[in-house]
Amino acid sequence: MRAKAVSPDLEERIAPILDRYRGKKGALIPLLQDVQAELGWLPEEALKLVADTLGLTLAQVVGVASFYAQFYFEPRGRHVIRVCTGTACHIRGAPQILERLEKELGVKAGETTEDLAFTLETVNCVGCCALAPVVVVDDRVLKRRDHRKLWDWVRKRRVE
Ligand code: FES
Repeated sequence: MRAKAVSPDLEERIAPILDRYRGKKGALIPLLQDVQAELGWLPEEALKLVADTLGLTLAQVVGVASFYAQFYFEPRGRHVIRVCTGTACHIRGAPQILERLEKELGVKAGETTEDLAFTLETVNCVGCCALAPVVVVDDRVLKRRDHRKLWDWVRKRRVE
């Protein structure tokens, strides 16, 4: 990772969070979680501030953060759409749903729209196979009969 100047805006936004954890042992994970909750992702400049706050190197912070799937190092959409591609959902049409969403949103799975409105992801079984095919929108599980609402919602959000 290349070092960049810290933007005053970002520093101002996360300063209260950094202050809460300054000097605390074992604070790295909760601090990263709180910073990500504030920013939606973990830009390098935020990771550098986290490192400075805890007296760690940037490499140490990145090393730990990159171990966990819960941390994101690219901007995330305001809404996250996850298409379940587990076996039950796959058999009941998940590939077609994913393809349609990719077309509607203009991104591939794992990507975020340019306007940062949506991140599209796949997930491997969310534990409600009886409702297959399942799409999870911002942690809300949509079963098949709710999919019409999903398409309407995606189209409406695209033009807002
Ligand atoms: S396979 Fe989709 S919820 Fe289980």
